[in-house]
Amino acid sequence: KTAELPLVSGSEGVPSVDFSTFTKQTGHTALDYGFVNTASTKSAITYIDGDQGILRYRGYPIEQLAKHSSYLEVAWLLLYGELPTADQLGEWDEKIRRHTLLHEDLKHFFSALPHTAHPMSVLSAATAALSTYYEGQSDPGNPEHVELNTIRMLAKLPVIAAYAHKKSIGQAFLYPDNSLSFVDNFLKLNFGNHAEPYEINPVMSRALERLLILHEDHEQNASTSTVRLVGSTGANQFSSISAGINALYGPLHGGANEAVLDMLARIRDSGESVQRFVERVKNKEDGVKLMGFGHRVYKNYDPRAKLVKESADEVLRELGVEDPLLALANELEEIALNDDYFKERRLYPNVDFYTGVIYKAMGFPTRMFTPLFAIGRLPGWLAHWREMQYDPQTKIGRPQQLYVGAGERDYPT
Ligand code: MLT
Repeated sequence: KTAELPLVSGSEGVPSVDFSTFTKQTGHTALDYGFVNTASTKSAITYIDGDQGILRYRGYPIEQLAKHSSYLEVAWLLLYGELPTADQLGEWDEKIRRHTLLHEDLKHFFSALPHTAHPMSVLSAATAALSTYYEGQSDPGNPEHVELNTIRMLAKLPVIAAYAHKKSIGQAFLYPDNSLSFVDNFLKLNFGNHAEPYEINPVMSRALERLLILHEDHEQNASTSTVRLVGSTGANQFSSISAGINALYGPLHGGANEAVLDMLARIRDSGESVQRFVERVKNKEDGVKLMGFGHRVYKNYDPRAKLVKESADEVLRELGVEDPLLALANELEEIALNDDYFKERRLYPNVDFYTGVIYKAMGFPTRMFTPLFAIGRLPGWLAHWREMQYDPQTKIGRPQQLYVGAGERDYPT
């Protein structure tokens, strides 16, 4: 049967259609390449208005949360719907600190991997391996297991990421220092060593805390919907989060800030002017792309990018680092934002545009940028996994398919 199907609901010029009702009533399948706009999941966690450039977690504007809250406070908000009281937060923080240690056997797992491994591959593999240590304690239907594994994930993912980093630079792993805050513990695990005492740098700590908060959730992005889809099969949190980490790895998702820094370095090394680079982007010469610009949902400045840009200026100033790549990024942004080509297409810097510059100033190698995104996004993944899990209407996910292949054929004999 043919019918006038609104192929992509919600895109420009196409009226928004409630596909759940539409498909139920008509039995038709809506063709939606890569689930571009399939509005089929409800969620009470994050609100985005892409036209206005608004982002809120549980109703609270991201700008206020980034300014006044800690990473764990926002994580609690995403998971439980309310900001925690001081007592609730203190108790929870304490529990998380008690779960930072990895099983000693897991260290052999790191030794089995090549030192050249990308830290994101190590992160996803080790997260999946965590499942094996908690057999019998990972039943998605058991709320006690879910609470415990929420805490375990929050406590252990930063440690795994730091070990992936240490491994890639051939340095010894440190035990977590549970007298420190979540962020300082993570920074020490990455930048501390056994030979000297570690000194906390409050500028770095605050900047990292803010970046992590900005990344905590972003509704149905590729990795979060992966976590929900995998979780809908009844898979536990470790397996579902590991799948999310793999989805985040791609250069179009979490790998984007790495790609931005590579682009800036290439412009610097080529000696070509930023203006000329922008012209090449517009003419689509040699497939060159302006990385970190434009976003599927934002047709305005990504609210996170504004805050990241402020942090970049602040951190570099306070750390006394002069990075020519930041100057290049600023110049690129200014040229692009004043150019009709980008204005007409409503292409603005997104969250990935400046984060790499800050991570680099902090001393993280480029390959650690995506694991940092994963630590930021973890509370969002966990909150979505639980929201999906606790919704009695949840069914196993199964994207609809419109078959476009050959009709029935006789087997050639
Ligand atoms: C994110 O934060 O996940 C990225 O901006 C990608 C997205 O939201 O689709």
